[in-house]
This record gives sequence, C-alpha cells and structure tokens, in this order.
Amino acid sequence: MSDAQRHATPDIVITDVAPRDGLQNQAVAISTDAKVELIRLLARAGVRSVEATSFVSPKAVPQMADAADVVQRAAAQCPDLRLSTLVPNLKGLERAHSAGATEIAVVLSATETMNQRNINMGLDAATDVSEQTLVRARELGLRTRAYVAVAFDCPFEGPVDLDTVLRLACRMRDAGAEEIVIADTIGAAAPAAVKSRMAALAQALDPGTLAVHLHDTRGLGVANAWAALEAGVRRFDASVGGIGGCPFAPGAAGNLATEDLVLMAEQCGLRTGISLDGLLDAVTFAESLLDRPLGGRSIAWLRRQQNPRGKSCT
Ligand code: HMG
Ligand code: MG
Repeated sequence: MSDAQRHATPDIVITDVAPRDGLQNQAVAISTDAKVELIRLLARAGVRSVEATSFVSPKAVPQMADAADVVQRAAAQCPDLRLSTLVPNLKGLERAHSAGATEIAVVLSATETMNQRNINMGLDAATDVSEQTLVRARELGLRTRAYVAVAFDCPFEGPVDLDTVLRLACRMRDAGAEEIVIADTIGAAAPAAVKSRMAALAQALDPGTLAVHLHDTRGLGVANAWAALEAGVRRFDASVGGIGGCPFAPGAAGNLATEDLVLMAEQCGLRTGISLDGLLDAVTFAESLLDRPLGGRSIAWLRRQQNPRGKSCT
C-alpha cells in the first residue's frame, strides 16, 4: 500500500477493539507495556481508531485495572490515534476523564438479563445511567459512542425485537451519542437479519452515525459485515487476530477479525487506509502475548502472501 493510498480518506472507518474487547477476558495477565505496544502496532498499521481499554470495576474485569495508564501512555505514543474507552457508569466516566481520555463508549444491552449480568442493573436503570453518562461526557467535551449490545439475540432471553433496539438507539442518540454501535454480542446474527435491521436503523438515525460490532462465533462475520455495508453502514468495530468476547455473555466468541474485514473491503474496492502487513505484525505480537495461534478466517492465506521482502499484501 502506497503512502498516498494510506493517507486518502477511507471509505469505511474501522475501530479496532482488540485492546479492550480482545484482552478483557484473557486468562493470562497482560502487562501495560504490552497493551500499549499492541495499540502502537495498530496505529503503525494505519488503524485510526482504537478502543484502548475500559474503566470498569477491577473486581469484575481484572485485566482492565490499568486503564488510566493505558490511556495516558497510548495517547503519548500515538497522538494522532482516536482512542476510545468503554465506561459503564458515571464513575467510569470520571475515571476516564481524569486519565485524559477524549472519547468514551457507554454499554447498554437490549435485554433486562444481559444488563443485570454485565453491569449489575436492569434495563431501565442501565438506560438512565447510559443517558446520564453521555450527557455528562458531552459537557466535559468528550466524543461519545453508545453500544446497544445483544441487538440481535441475547444469550439469556433469545431473539431481541427490532422495536426495542430502535427505541434504545434513539434514546442514546437523543442523549448525545455521536456514534451508535449495534452489537451482535454472541455472533448469532445472519446476513439477512443484519441487512434488514441495519437498514431500519439507518432510516431512523443518521446512517453516518451508525456502526456495527460483530462477533464471529459462526463464521458469518464477514458476510454480516457485507450485509451491513449493503444497508449503508460505513463504521465497523473489529479486533485484530479475531480476539474478543464479553465475559458475561455465555457463548460469545471472538470479534470479527480486523484483517478479514480489511481484506474483504479492499478486495471490494473500499479503502480502509490499513495495511494488512501491519495487521499481521499485530497478530504475531498478540500471539506472543497469549501464547496461542490467532487470526481470522483469512490468516493462513494472508501469511502465504507475505513475501520475505515485506511487500504489502493489500
Ligand atoms: P456494582 O458492583 O453494581 O457497582 O458494579 P456499585 O455501583 O454497587 O459499586 C460497587 C463498587 O464498585 C464500589 O467500590 C464502586 O466505587 C466501584 P467500593 O465502594 O466497593 O470500593 N465502581 C467502580 N470501580 C471502578 N470503575 C467503575 C466503577 N463503578 C463502580 N466504573 C459495574 C457495577 C458496572 C461497575 C460492574 O458491574 C462492572 O464493572 N462490570 C463490568 C462490565 C464489563 O466490563 N463488561 C464487559 C464489557 S461489555 C462487552 O464486552 C460488550 C461489547 O463488546 C459489545 C458487544 O459485543 O455486545 C461492548
Ligand atoms: Mg464485543
């Protein structure tokens, strides 16, 4: 990939969530140095937006206990990178703001039980807390995203109806969320449902503010991303190496791999500004941290394309 291609305005915006979604549930403790290095490798690959960490209870998710250090050090090393941080409540926002975070994401699930399991409050309380957090974040001058999790299927309550997702997404928008992230938390969606649901959401909300966050449990991640593209979505979450999964959602597997999404997009003529060679470096680094093979569906093929002289495979 040439410098000109890399710096051109991308056709789709990808937020790599590996440092947060990818690492939050790993059994092995990852050092702050290693988390910052992963973020640096993503930035070097041309990723412009990363979800760096979460300001949640360290008792609930010990891996994210160093959130403030991660934000401060990643911001210092990668000043041009958009760094987002997940916050479940006002206390998380306060911690994120004190650490110098410039962007936050609230996490609201579309069912009663998923909110209880994830953030220890019911749907109504989670909706109110997410709204209050968004309003306060805007007052503090932060950029804002809002997840609507289990937006297709809930591991506890089964299929989720579109009206509920629409209602919650509109409430998050009205409270000031600049980006609404529709999440298939357990990777239970299929392309037809993704296309129709995202098209309905794009009619109700500004399509430019809609993002999709896919988990690749059943190998449908790329097909689902294509379906979202067909519905007009241009913002995607993905995780390098395909790592990820919510610790409180049984059955959640890794996220759609960033390298799979970039490969699909570039092969379809959509610019991402991201180098596949650079992503492979990040996958190799993540493998060394987690001591196991990683990568999306395309990883073996991508590695075969890498030649010893390190020519780009995009
Ligand atoms: P709680 O126990 O109900 O909180 O936890 P509380 O308000 O009763 O407070 C209890 C203690 O926690 C207090 O401390 C608070 O100060 C503290 P103590 O007085 O006992 O010393 N506390 C906090 N500490 C640090 N940061 C905070 C915070 N808030 C309260 N923000 C809470 C409620 C939300 C904190 C907890 O349930 C929690 O942290 N849950 C973790 C949720 C999480 O990280 N889930 C995974 C991410 S979501 C996801 O993966 C899905 C996504 O990828 C999209 C998709 O795929 O669907 C985004
Ligand atoms: Mg997730």
